[in-house]
Amino acid sequence: MTPAYKRPAAFGAAAFVFAMLLAPLSAPPALAVPSGAASHVSSVLPSSTSPATVRGPAAKKPRPPRDPAKANVLVNKQYPLVPRKFVPRLVAVPGTGIRLQPQAAKAYGKLAAAARRDGVNIKLTSGYRSYAVQQGLVDEYTRAYGSAYAKRIVAMPGTSEHQTGLAIDVGNHSRACALRACFANTKVGSWMARNAPKHGFILRYPKGMEEVTGYNHEPWHFRYVGPAQAKNLSRTKARTLEHHYGVASSPRATTAKGTKTTTANLNLRRSPSLGGGIIKTVPRGAKVRPTGKKSGTWIQTRHGGSTGWMSSRYLR
Ligand code: DAL
Ligand code: ZN
Repeated sequence: MTPAYKRPAAFGAAAFVFAMLLAPLSAPPALAVPSGAASHVSSVLPSSTSPATVRGPAAKKPRPPRDPAKANVLVNKQYPLVPRKFVPRLVAVPGTGIRLQPQAAKAYGKLAAAARRDGVNIKLTSGYRSYAVQQGLVDEYTRAYGSAYAKRIVAMPGTSEHQTGLAIDVGNHSRACALRACFANTKVGSWMARNAPKHGFILRYPKGMEEVTGYNHEPWHFRYVGPAQAKNLSRTKARTLEHHYGVASSPRATTAKGTKTTTANLNLRRSPSLGGGIIKTVPRGAKVRPTGKKSGTWIQTRHGGSTGWMSSRYLR
């Protein structure tokens, strides 16, 4: 199996042990949620259109839950912890030195007991990590892999789910495939993928969702959201919390060639910025054709003989 992380030869054993003890890794390019997203959407329609019809999705920008003491919180690169140095109420998971928020610790106890009944012995390898510990990990991984790769596997302090006390990393006692993609196929990895949601834990960084979550596939990292929420995600087939809260954006999906449909009245601009002059306003529901060029969250498209730039957030 290909290791999830290609360690440079210089990456010493001591650093590796440090990494194994302290945490999980993983993460890619940031979610494309521009702060000025609303400005991508035209506030002016052709004069025949009444103002009431002007309101596109930007007017109802989703507001995911941000209270890090609650199991429904969304924490990622775009939605950091508030406050950044938040410290939750914590209890130790019996038999480990690892701490979690009380409701997550209780649910983990039940999950581990259910696994034992199925003959699966889970090793809890990480839970709550303070801002300072997370900073140490970021420094360590940056030294080992360089900053670009480190950003895909470890969260900046103040943006890690581990700092909420609601996330766990699990492994096999044999250490088989620890913190590697092949963990998914181990006894613990496959048991967790199948059963964790029943106990309120979801696989938070699924394979293929790297551009949405911001992190590499981490089959060992599970997030406590509560059984009702976990059920809800599976019922609606939401692959990630970002999808569940309507803040997923997939630059990959919109840069593919082919026709896309606008989901708002969108300005087509001369350049990929809000300062780029408006060529025209493309109405909601129109078909546009991406040229394949993109710049951040902007995508170059053709519409009715004009070529310009529009926000990829309002294309599907
Ligand atoms: N490895 C995950 C993304 C974290 O550092 O929180
Ligand atoms: Zn983790």
